[in-house]
Amino acid sequence: MLSRLVNQAQPLEPTARVLVLGKGYSGRCFSQLLNALGTPVIGTRRKPDNNSTDIAFDSATDLQPSPGDLEGVSHVLCTIPPSQDGRDPALECLGPLLTKISPVWVGYLSTTGVYGDRQGQWVSETDPASPGQERSRRRLGCEQAWLNSGLPVQILRLPGIYGPGRSVLDGLKSGRARRINKQNQVFCRIHVEDIAGACLHLIHRASRGHAPSIVNVVDDEPTPSGELLVFGADLLNCNPPPEENYTDACRNMSPMARSFWSENRRVSNRLLCNELGYKLLHPNYRDGLRDCLMQSDQSNI
Ligand SMILES: NC(=O)c1ccc[n+]([C@@H]2O[C@H](COP(=O)([O-])OP(=O)(O)OC[C@H]3O[C@@H](n4cnc5c(N)ncnc54)[C@H](OP(=O)(O)O)[C@@H]3O)[C@@H](O)[C@H]2O)c1
Repeated sequence: MLSRLVNQAQPLEPTARVLVLGKGYSGRCFSQLLNALGTPVIGTRRKPDNNSTDIAFDSATDLQPSPGDLEGVSHVLCTIPPSQDGRDPALECLGPLLTKISPVWVGYLSTTGVYGDRQGQWVSETDPASPGQERSRRRLGCEQAWLNSGLPVQILRLPGIYGPGRSVLDGLKSGRARRINKQNQVFCRIHVEDIAGACLHLIHRASRGHAPSIVNVVDDEPTPSGELLVFGADLLNCNPPPEENYTDACRNMSPMARSFWSENRRVSNRLLCNELGYKLLHPNYRDGLRDCLMQSDQSNI
């Protein structure tokens, strides 16, 4: 619940003004956290709703924020993924403007996909990236572009993001969930509220001089995806889908899904949680899925 996060979070200084480039799923949650703590947020969307205060930014068109829109911005979070040609949309279009407004902190949401396949072994920020997929190579290029930008950038590497409206519970309800069993395969994940909480925590740590350039933001328990479906089905009081063997399931999988199953790694959160002291709101999928259920029950009341 966001209210739990708000209660455990420390507000930013009263002069802070945060720019969220890409107020999608993660960007919205971070904005909600900041707003609840009294910090003004400027969010961008490609097509802002008519009744919202978000501003337009679409790298594919000339819709761009003006210098006046960004006046007083002290912190920036970029959630926008790389473009198909591997360039970073935000940096390409707004790099000079961001340099001019000189924020004290810039967070860039990346992916743990840049580590590539580790055959189920643990991997941490000190291990060199070794992307196996084209999209992960593009992502690593964007990370490097941000790190070379001269801005005070921290890269947050994320695994699969889940949360209210985006979890196995939704897959089970729609009947689209598949329980695939591949021996020894695990996936890492993070609840969207912990992305928001970790961003805020990193801002506070950076202001006290501790700002590692790359931080994994993952929960404590890499887990086979089938285990989540069984737990989720129990929460929803329904039957989990029948188990499918990976070799059979693979035959009618999309190339994207197959690429996810081709990599197996356990991503460590030791830097975030032990060294930087972030306390996960949802340390594992059991906690996180119970929260998703509670939030969906509340939105149905
Ligand atoms: N989903 C996952 O499981 C996962 C896992 C690891 C890492 N990531 C990465 O983490 C980041 C945040 O994920 P998310 O799920 O919160 O993303 P999301 O909901 O898809 O939000 C992405 C935001 O970027 C904006 N955007 C996309 N292309 C743009 C462009 N060319 N110009 C301007 N704005 C653009 C979108 O605008 P609109 O609001 O107008 O659509 C949206 O606000 C993304 O970079 C994602 O690739 C995701």
